[in-house]
Amino acid sequence: MSELSTDSYKGVRDFYPLDWALMQAIFERLRQTLALWGYEEYNASPLERAELYESKGNEEIVSEQTYTFEDRGGRRVTLRPEMTPTLARMVAHKRRELPLPLRWFSLPNLFRYERPQRGRLREHYQLNVDLLGVKDTKADGEIIVIAHALLAAFGATDDDFVIRMSSRALLDAACKAAGMKAEAARAYLRLLDKKDKMPGADFKVALDAITSTDPLALIESDKRVRAEKEKLMKLIEAFKARGIANVVFDPSIVRGFDYYTGIVFEIYDTDPANSRALFGGGRYDDLVSLFGGEPVPAVGFGMGDVTLVDFLTTHDLLPASTSAPELYLGTPSENDLAAANGAAEMLRASGLRVFINLSAKSLGDQVKDADRRGIPYFAAVGDEEKHSHTLRVKRLSTGEERSLSLADVAAHIRNA
Ligand code: HAM
Repeated sequence: MSELSTDSYKGVRDFYPLDWALMQAIFERLRQTLALWGYEEYNASPLERAELYESKGNEEIVSEQTYTFEDRGGRRVTLRPEMTPTLARMVAHKRRELPLPLRWFSLPNLFRYERPQRGRLREHYQLNVDLLGVKDTKADGEIIVIAHALLAAFGATDDDFVIRMSSRALLDAACKAAGMKAEAARAYLRLLDKKDKMPGADFKVALDAITSTDPLALIESDKRVRAEKEKLMKLIEAFKARGIANVVFDPSIVRGFDYYTGIVFEIYDTDPANSRALFGGGRYDDLVSLFGGEPVPAVGFGMGDVTLVDFLTTHDLLPASTSAPELYLGTPSENDLAAANGAAEMLRASGLRVFINLSAKSLGDQVKDADRRGIPYFAAVGDEEKHSHTLRVKRLSTGEERSLSLADVAAHIRNA
């Protein structure tokens, strides 16, 4: 029998403790920032009924990128490829009980059968931030300002990223002005959404097959289209007044999903090393009412962890991760374990992250073990320490030692 492979499934990641500590530090920063804005976290199962995505969504995602299977009871199940349909379902389900507006966020893992490449995997974590129940552009403004604040919370500045914005209303008006019917307009938007991923000549050929007039060429000349552009420009001006200078109008931003009805936006790294969008979002006023009942206007975005880590790495803004043990408690002999456990309990009560030796290794080897694990401090708990309630705490990087009462150890390590 051949041995089992230790590789993970294609396009997904294993998170070893150091990797996961980094993810947690990033998630923590996001959660703290959103809490300041009054946003509350929700969650759901990654399993959804397949029909949720088939009613309205994105043809490409539904037909080519979902993981869909039949369960043992013959029900068709999909691993969620995005959170927005789940959110809409949850809100519609409790529509009467929930006090609008809702300010909600979530950090789900999502599954898409994509070709793995830089910035794209088959499972990713995606921060979703949505504001439901407000039709006014005040809500669009808040969502964009939050997207900006989230990157600023890592120390990013306006030079590091750009917020590209357009609107479905503008695109629809442009398609109408070009004399396109609904079907052709949809084909055009799909094509525009892929524009950046295809050679210019191919785009032109595909465009000519759909329309003889490029709708985007009509933005300035058609009155209705221009009026939509002016609405957007007003919104962009308002951001400037709030100190956000990196929002630009970009008519080529379409967004792949069919449910968007108003503004659409994407955030990009200004460093060419990262060419894929960090965030994508927009207004979707008709999604919740697909489940019946009154419409609930909504606007929000998704931000993927893969592109975020690439962005933070490129700009040297990764947060320090803080969950690794800080102190290794060594035991001169196995009989000292009970005393070490007692000391550890006191140290943990003061918030210190403590790792206890369980092996029969010599003290010297325990010090080496601590070093190898990257634990910065070492102290042995033997007879003497048991009686004196003190520890000799050694900083492994310098070899410096301090005799400290148990009560002072945490402060010593934390303030070093
Ligand atoms: P999306 O544009 O499909 O939008 O995804 C949003 C972000 O998730 C992307 O900009 C990217 O950072 C990340 N992302 C998407 N697919 C992958 C992948 N295969 N691997 C790694 N990262 C990925 C949505 O999903 C909308 N539901 C967002 C939304 C929320 N709109 C309104 N509210």
